[in-house]
Amino acid sequence: MNKKTIDQVELKGKRVLVRVDFNVPLDEGKVTDDTRIRESLPTIQKIIASGGKCILMSHLGRPKGKRAMEFSLGPAAQRLAELLKQQVIMATECVGADIEKATKRMDAGQVMMLENLRFHPEEEKNDPGFSQQLAKLGDIYVNDAFGSAHRAHASTEGITKFLKPAVAGYLMKKELDYLGRALAEPARPFVAVLGGSKISGKIDVIGNLLGKVDTILIGGGMAYTFFKAMGEEIGNSIVELEKVDLAHSLIKGAASSSTKLVLPADSRVAEELKAGVKTEVRSNRALRENDTAGDIGPEAEGNYAQIIRKAKTVVWNGPMGVFEIGEFAHGTQAVAEALVEATRAGAVTVVGGGDSAAAMKKFGLEDKVSHVSTGGGASLEFLEGKQLPGVVALTDS
Ligand code: 3PG
Repeated sequence: MNKKTIDQVELKGKRVLVRVDFNVPLDEGKVTDDTRIRESLPTIQKIIASGGKCILMSHLGRPKGKRAMEFSLGPAAQRLAELLKQQVIMATECVGADIEKATKRMDAGQVMMLENLRFHPEEEKNDPGFSQQLAKLGDIYVNDAFGSAHRAHASTEGITKFLKPAVAGYLMKKELDYLGRALAEPARPFVAVLGGSKISGKIDVIGNLLGKVDTILIGGGMAYTFFKAMGEEIGNSIVELEKVDLAHSLIKGAASSSTKLVLPADSRVAEELKAGVKTEVRSNRALRENDTAGDIGPEAEGNYAQIIRKAKTVVWNGPMGVFEIGEFAHGTQAVAEALVEATRAGAVTVVGGGDSAAAMKKFGLEDKVSHVSTGGGASLEFLEGKQLPGVVALTDS
């Protein structure tokens, strides 16, 4: 990574303003998945141990520029305090003279959490005045919010024009190292597993990976737009009719590239995708009118698992089926387990955030692969080959 990191700056006595991504799920005021908070601990602990004053800022949800307390970062601050085993001061705002004074009164090693940045519409507008106000709260800026690095917002991009140095925290560095190395210098065979319901979310990823990876394994609802393009019966399976031509050109593009694009040989189908339903397995050339595909079938599972086990680099983004429903979780679980086996055999395995990360957690396998990204949209944009504004804005090393 060609950006300065937290290891290259003096933190002692400084107000270190850190953009974290504490956009975590809440239920009745409690954090239900604290992965993103835990993953930020190394950066926060480094600041504390170095005698810095740690001021954290984040967004949570989409309050659309209004102060709405169901989007307060209070529960995240509480969870952080439990994990750190020390007090976290919860600020009532994220900008203003009072907050600025409060940051100046902090002692070395103290931690403060600012209130939700998105209570102000200026955050998402990347408003320079708002960036400037945020910049007054620190002497050094650290971005550890990989999950928000694809957003050019005041706290991720704009602020770097007013507060320097702007350096990467440990989570940011870890994410960029894993994803970057996987794409830039992959050990081969290099396999990408792409799933999810819609092809539209993955077109640019497929386009960017053609010619880079040895094999792309397709699963999830998006497979049926490909089957439609091939003229197959897909029953009531999910399809994006306006993307059928595009699916066709991706198939053609793959055929003239060094990448093998693999579609599932069979599907697990039912009349309805709900728990307790009777499922059947069909070859993808034999789907019937009333079939709705909910998962890849056992033949595809075996084939995909075998290809993944032999790989030396694997990138996975998007589930193979509706894994939230037990009846349709087999394919996603088979892929997850194959990734674990590949990791044990020495492969580098990287799981993109969002649904695939949730699946790894559901199967209890999140610690058994090389890296599970904390970024959903951000990891996808990275795989699309896009520059992430929150990363570009950091000080070059
Ligand atoms: C995420 O959860 O993907 C990030 O926190 C970004 O959130 P956003 O999509 O609301 O910008």
